[in-house]
Amino acid sequence: MGQSVIQTKDIAKIYKMGTETVEALKSVTINIDKGEYVAFMGPSGSGKSTLMNIIGCLDTPTRGQYQLAGQDVSETSENDLAEIRNKEIGFVFQTFNLLPRQSSLENVALPLVYAGFSKSQREERALEVLTSVGLGDRAYHKPNELSGGQRQRVAIARALVNNPSIILADEPTGNLDTKTSYEIMELFQYLHDQGNTIVMVTHEDDIAQYAHRIIRMRDGLVESDNINENITRVGVEPA
Ligand SMILES: Nc1ncnc2c1ncn2[C@@H]1O[C@H](COP(=O)(O)OP(=O)(O)O)[C@@H](O)[C@H]1O
Ligand SMILES: [Mg+2]
Repeated sequence: MGQSVIQTKDIAKIYKMGTETVEALKSVTINIDKGEYVAFMGPSGSGKSTLMNIIGCLDTPTRGQYQLAGQDVSETSENDLAEIRNKEIGFVFQTFNLLPRQSSLENVALPLVYAGFSKSQREERALEVLTSVGLGDRAYHKPNELSGGQRQRVAIARALVNNPSIILADEPTGNLDTKTSYEIMELFQYLHDQGNTIVMVTHEDDIAQYAHRIIRMRDGLVESDNINENITRVGVEPA
């Protein structure tokens, strides 16, 4: 029994567009403990991104309760929520979302601006994290001077720079080739081994196999939620 970090209870999300309503989430109750490594799977439109946005406090549910690190999100002010989000959560997106004119170092250092560090402190910390993801020698390159895998690693370094406890990744390998995808999974494995909680969305079965628990969604509901009995590990020969 671990310490719960993500706890949703009967969460629903209804989008209204003109006269039409879309029930993106119907009723989702999940509990994720500190240090878990979870993959969400499911067909396109099943509500995975909607759920990730709610978990990451980028959006709020229409109904139901959400507790992040023991705090009820619906009863938290916008300011406090932004602070929790910055402190607790690192986001990784399919499209990397890097600023194109900024160097790797500047991209990674950006979240620290809001944390009140000096420029030299920010750069020192950013370089440390870039080095930890194997990109210490690419600190002054711009995104268009990097490969897709390197760009995603810069994005992961940016997600890690505030030392968040939870990494949320929505289709992190969606724009990467197979070999590069495995490199990113190696990095996630390392981050998980370090004690981070990892929640990722993927529609690729071989990517999901790196996670320790696989939750399948369908039509805004949890279809299945299973421990992965056959976890893939990078760099380890099967016994
Ligand atoms: N901002 C939005 N406005 C209206 N409908 C949306 C919005 N975001 C998602 N949806 C709808 O909600 C459903 C779930 O979408 P999403 O969570 O993106 O699914 P997934 O990530 O599993 O592909 C889809 O039918 C989608 O069209
Ligand atoms: Mg999605």
